[in-house]
This record gives sequence, C-alpha cells and structure tokens, in this order.
Amino acid sequence: MDTEKILAKMTVEEKAALVSGTDFMYTNPIPRLGVPSLCTSDGPHGLRKQKGSGDNGISASEPATAFPTAACTASGWNPDNLRRMGEAIAEECRYYGVHTLLGPGMNIKRNPLCGRNFEYFSEDPLLAGTLGAAMVEGVQSKGVGVSLKHFALNNSENYRFMGNSAASENAIRSIYLKPFEYAVKRARPATVMCAYNRINGTYCSENKRLLTGILRDEWGFDGVVMSDWGAVRDRVEALKAGLDLEMPGDTAICRRRILDAVADGSLDVNDLDKACRNILKWIDKYYRPASETTPDWEAHNDLCAEIAADCAVLMKNDGVLPLDKRSKLYITGELFKNMRYQGAGSSMINPTFLTSPADAFETRGIFSVPLDECDAAVVFAGLTDMYESEGCDRENMKLPEDQLSEIDMLCETGKKVVVVLFDGSPVELPFADKVSAILNMYLPGQNGGTAVADLLFGDKNPSGKLAETWPVRYEDVPGHDTFGKSVVEVYAEGVEVGYRYYNKHNVPVRYPFGFGLSYTTFEKTDWIKDKNSYSQTVTNTGGRFGAEVAQLYIGGELCGFEKVYLQPGESKTVTVTVDDGQKTVYSDEFTVPDPPPKLPITLESRFSDLRQTFFGRILYKGMMSYADGELKKANKMPDGADKNNAIKGALFLKRIFDSNSLRSLSMSAGRSLPYNVASGLVEISNGRLIRGLRLILTPIKVPKLPKEEKE
Ligand code: BGC
Repeated sequence: MDTEKILAKMTVEEKAALVSGTDFMYTNPIPRLGVPSLCTSDGPHGLRKQKGSGDNGISASEPATAFPTAACTASGWNPDNLRRMGEAIAEECRYYGVHTLLGPGMNIKRNPLCGRNFEYFSEDPLLAGTLGAAMVEGVQSKGVGVSLKHFALNNSENYRFMGNSAASENAIRSIYLKPFEYAVKRARPATVMCAYNRINGTYCSENKRLLTGILRDEWGFDGVVMSDWGAVRDRVEALKAGLDLEMPGDTAICRRRILDAVADGSLDVNDLDKACRNILKWIDKYYRPASETTPDWEAHNDLCAEIAADCAVLMKNDGVLPLDKRSKLYITGELFKNMRYQGAGSSMINPTFLTSPADAFETRGIFSVPLDECDAAVVFAGLTDMYESEGCDRENMKLPEDQLSEIDMLCETGKKVVVVLFDGSPVELPFADKVSAILNMYLPGQNGGTAVADLLFGDKNPSGKLAETWPVRYEDVPGHDTFGKSVVEVYAEGVEVGYRYYNKHNVPVRYPFGFGLSYTTFEKTDWIKDKNSYSQTVTNTGGRFGAEVAQLYIGGELCGFEKVYLQPGESKTVTVTVDDGQKTVYSDEFTVPDPPPKLPITLESRFSDLRQTFFGRILYKGMMSYADGELKKANKMPDGADKNNAIKGALFLKRIFDSNSLRSLSMSAGRSLPYNVASGLVEISNGRLIRGLRLILTPIKVPKLPKEEKE
C-alpha cells in the first residue's frame, strides 16, 4: 500500500473517518481507496475476540487461551516466559484475524488496592519495563501489533475516567513513565494507548507534552497513539496533541468537530494528515487475512501451566512442602474447585480448557480425608472477582472473613496448615506466623490447577520472587488514607513507591520485593564490579533442580537481574551491565489542585455524583437498573464457566456505569449514547428540562462513513 499516494487522494471526510474507530474494535475502512479495516482486541493475557460487534465485557468471546495474568508472570522474573506467551497469543490473534492486541499493561503498581493491579507487572520500573518489552517482542515477532497501555499515571480505578493524577516531574519521569520508555525504546510497539485520566490537570488524550514531546520526540516512537475506549474529550485538541486514533469511535461529535475545525482553520490539516499517515502505515504493516493454521491449543494450555509454575511464589515453608504423594490431606476452600485464574473486566477471556486444583488432584487420585485423620490441611483461599476488578479499587486489603476464620480454626487443631493463595494483588496475611506454608499462585491462568499440584507435590520447584512488596497491613502503605478517595489523586510519596518507601523508612513488611523460597538452597557470591558490569555467581547447594534470581540493587534500586536454572551442585555466573549515563534530575515540586465542585453536574461529573439532583437520581437509577437486569439474567444461567463470566461481565458493567462520566460513557458508547443526548442529560440533571430535551432531539449531523457510501 502506497500510504502517501492514498493520503493524497483522501478527502477530509475520509480522513476524519480514518482517525476514529468503528464497531468497537475496528478501524474505519475506506473501500474506495482499498484501505481495509484493522481489527484490535483485548488483551493483555490472552485474546478476548468478541463475537459480533462487541462491547466492553458482557458479550461472549471466542475461546482462547487464558494465560497467567501479569501479576503472576511478573513474579517469574523471566522475560522468556513473556516472550513465549506473546508468541502464543499472537498465533491465536492470527487465527481469529486480530491485527493488534490491546496490551501489555505497563502501569506501575502504586497501591495494592488498585483493582487493576492484576493486569500490571510491578512496583519497579525496570522489572515492569523488561517484562513488558519481552511480551511486545513475542507478539510482534509473529506479525501482530500491540498497544502499550495505559499511558500514563493510570494507577487507580475508582476515578479512572476523570481522575487527575497530581505528581512531581521526578515521580512521573523516574517511576511512572519508565516502563513505557523502556518498552518503547527496546521493543518498538506498534501502538500506545493513552489513558483516561488527567496528569496535573491535562487529560492524557490532550497532553501534547506526553504524546508528542516525550513519546515521539524524546523516545523516538513512530507508531500510532490510540485513545483508551472513551478517553477523548476534545477531538481537535487531541489531534493537535498527537493522538492519532480515537477509539472505539462511531462518535458523530468527533468527526463533526474535526470537519468544522479544518473548515474554519482552527485545525491545521497537517495535524490531521500526520495522524492519518501513522494509521495508514500501521494498517499497511499489520493488516493481513486470518491465518488458516489452527493454534495448538493443547500446547498453549501446557505453556500456561509451565509459566504459572515458574512464577508461583513460595512465601513460607517450614518443611511441610513438598507434600508426600502418599500423605493424607484434608482439602478445603472454595477456590479448590472454583479457582480464580483471571481478572475481571476488559481482559476477561473465554478459556479453551479449565483445570482447577480439584481437577488436577483428581487426576492424581488425591482426595480429601476427614480433618481428624489427616497429615496436613490444605486451604485454597484468595480473592474473588467480587473483591477485585477493573473499574473499581478494593475497599481493603483483607481476605474474606469466612476464609480467615477457617484458617484460624485449622491452626487451632494443631495440624500442619498449608495455604494456597489466588489473588491479583497483595492481601493481609494475619495467619502467616501460624501456618506451615503459604504458596501464592496469583492469578495463574486456565491451567493453574496443574501448576499448583505440580508444585505442592514437588514435581516442580517454586522459583517465583515477588514483583511487589507485601505489606503487613494496609495502613503501612504510603498514601493509604487518600488513595482512590477523590478525583484528585495526590502522589505525595513522590518516587518512594513500593520497596523504595518501605526500605527508606524502615517499615517492616510481610514479604519484601524480590522475595520467594525454593525447595532447594542457593549460595550467591557478592556482586563484583568491573567498569559498568557487575557479576555474581549463583550455586545450587541443595538436592533439587531449581531456579534463583540474581538481583542487583545500587543505591536501593533494582538495576539488573537474571534468573538462572541450576541442577544440584551447578553454578552459573550472571553478568549485568548497568547504564552509567548521567541521571537527569527532575523536580520534586508539584501543585495539588482543589477538586472541582460537585455541582452543577457537567459532562465530566462522576456518574454516581448525578444522584445529587432530583433528575440526576432518576437517570442514575435507570442506568443502574439496566446493569442489575444484566446481572439477574446472568444469575439465571445454568452453572458453569459461561455463567461465571456473564456474572463477572455484569458486575463490571455496574462498576463502569458508577465510576464513569457521561462524556466518557458517550465517547465509548458509539451510537448508543450520542454526545447530544449526553449533553441533554446533563442539562436535565441540572433541572433545565426544555434545554435538555432540545439537545436530545437535535442529533449531530455528519457525512456518511466511507464504508456506508455506495461504491
Ligand atoms: C480498558 C482498556 C481496554 C479497552 C477495550 C478500556 O475500558 O481500559 O484496557 O483495552 O477498554 O476493551
């Protein structure tokens, strides 16, 4: 495709169409010029290719491998896992005709309550950046693009649609942008997805410094910047800032504004051309018909178990693990049968297979015995999707009450108690000193059950290391009293994120960053420095094959790492090269703005704030009862994975409605909630009925889309 020739032939109407998406996941085709429609799909830990025109979570999707989530893969400290997983996901993309995968999620884990932490790698920029880059390389090596998301400072969910992240330049540059910078420079992702929130007052989608100054001019990014779904506010400002593609599109207002702005000269057509050029190049590089080769679903399922086993973190072990295959076990906990293996929200996958711990134990012929006769009790505990999801932050860091009391009860029997955890993010572990062992699986993907059994019975040796600190209590977390509570999220702790904070202030933690046990033992020499290189020799001094991670910290920061796999008695020397370039010093100052007034209602108000006025309340209730209806429908479905997914989808919809703004809802709803209707609803909520109705009855006029034109 000769992109320049095509661009030269395009009308302004066609350009305005090309820079916005259609049918939720696609780019707008231009049949007259032979420009096809590119297909994107979530992401990030497997494919959620929805059947039909799609939505943000409810509709069923094509079966695909639900790989371990980022929270899990990060604890493997092994970029190769991410590379192989990326290749496998790309094969599935090719099969379903998906051209760009929406992921990986590169945001820093700033607070353990962020509902979306399961989709992010780490509290450390180097670890997150290295693993993210490896996944990008894996996916793109198979001819499928990626979208690094969510750029940037999208570290909480409660106010993600309109929140304002107030942070210093130092925190922004040295912590939050770093993983993106690393992946952009190293792996050249096809696209970057800009986040919903504002940074120091400016929406990411209108942030020229972020999208052009830093991303393109400083880091050399030459791909497409797309918006998160509904993240555009002012389309013209966004184009000027460097946002190429508005997603999901089908918003008459955006095309109207572009056409008007070009006509009245307030938008330079060169800015529009730049965006079109980027999009055309992306389509040219990644568009291709679906592959006819069926992915090797079984091999991908095996890869899930292999990666999950490599990433699980053994947090405590008094010697009870590995379990003797002949030992009598009392097995309990809801998650034994209903393993939580993936997160809730836009990343939800319809798995090809599902192996719970119960399935894997049954395959091994292992069944529960009565408590009083057992050698050990194994409890499968953790968070369910009711507690942790995209769209809202967790309310606290606790495990459900019934799980805690069951663990207490078991400890009182004097039996050995093994706790197996499933979670997307740290939880308080008040029982840590009382139990014999804790094995943390995070959210291990569809074949997590096989991995758990392999680890518990010693066929595999745990080697995961925490990619985030596990605090003793939530109150120990910096910013715990303000996190997720206001539209202005103040990053008061600056660069003291995660272990940087706990170490500096000597705050005791439950399990530190980088920690994880093994069934074997290792000895490590001190790091030896030679110019920019540092070397360490790791020896397996125990009796089992196992893996250890050499971790180099300089000035309290992780500066390099490598995982080594060693037979008993074997040694390997790891060498890490450190960039000794001059570090730029950025300012720690920043201004904390006042939160905007809650009244009058505006297009940017949080949906739940609508309840402040009489008509707003009616509107709010109407929307919520629609979401409740979806939940009721899901609850009536026959038991099974489909029902679970439908319930998760409906809950997600409720959360999304609650935390959204009318503007963002309208921008992500395509034709279902046009901008004039959203604006009318704002007027009505403020008691201006006539003005509101007039707006609702005056649709925004735009030319037909190129795909609707008769050829
Ligand atoms: C999420 C993105 C996702 C997109 C499309 C948004 O709400 O934040 O991560 O890729 O929806 O489903």
